[in-house]
Amino acid sequence: MDIFIGDERACDERGAQEFAKQISSKPASVLGLATGSTPEGIYERLVDKYKAGQVSFASVKTFNLDEYLGIPINHVSSYSYYMYDKLFNHVDIQKDNINLLCPCPNSIDKECMDFEAAIKACGGIDLQILGLGPNGHIGFNEPGTPFESTTHLVELTESTIQANSRFFESPDQMPRQAITMGIKTIMQAQRIILMAKGQKKAQIIKEALTGPVTTRVPASVLQLHPNVLVILDRQAAAML
Ligand code: F6R
Repeated sequence: MDIFIGDERACDERGAQEFAKQISSKPASVLGLATGSTPEGIYERLVDKYKAGQVSFASVKTFNLDEYLGIPINHVSSYSYYMYDKLFNHVDIQKDNINLLCPCPNSIDKECMDFEAAIKACGGIDLQILGLGPNGHIGFNEPGTPFESTTHLVELTESTIQANSRFFESPDQMPRQAITMGIKTIMQAQRIILMAKGQKKAQIIKEALTGPVTTRVPASVLQLHPNVLVILDRQAAAML
């Protein structure tokens, strides 16, 4: 496991460079993407690199980690909206190559199975970016999720509801359920970047990287992956 520690700007640049490098070595890369505040700077820089002619998404395929359930697809707090707003609307990605979980599927089981099948049909994910929940979740795999899990329905924990209700007008508008790529799905990616920023992630970063590998801290499973880069700002790295 490699660890990069820097200020926020250096972290965002390192993350964006990793994606640019991946795409230039394989233009038809399959990227696993995350939402939330952590990767925003990476997406901003990737848009800049695209505008500067340094990277093209023309053949890239993407799969997003997760999506809330029970909101319209165009809801401003949906992860679909986030991805178009922060990245897809500003680069040359083809719409057919974007894979987002639906927040209002007819059948949740079918949505999950189709998503897994689509990842397999593309040959798997080459590079996956992960943020980290304050409770150690990756995607929306909350504590206790089996490491063997594939894409599935999740009941969000109180901790996640509190942490993410800032993205909704009021806490009671925050969905209580989501669909997420499973831990097994994530672990099958060729390369994984785990990124964390801020002092509020310091304790869970310490547990995830140096504590026991346990389903109580879902991100601890990354200790078992052979190709992980951890990108931390100084505050998130403070307890290492
Ligand atoms: C988002 C996701 C979540 C977030 C995590 C951290 O797609 O999968 O696991 O990465 O909740 O969120 P932020 O970055 O907002 O602190």
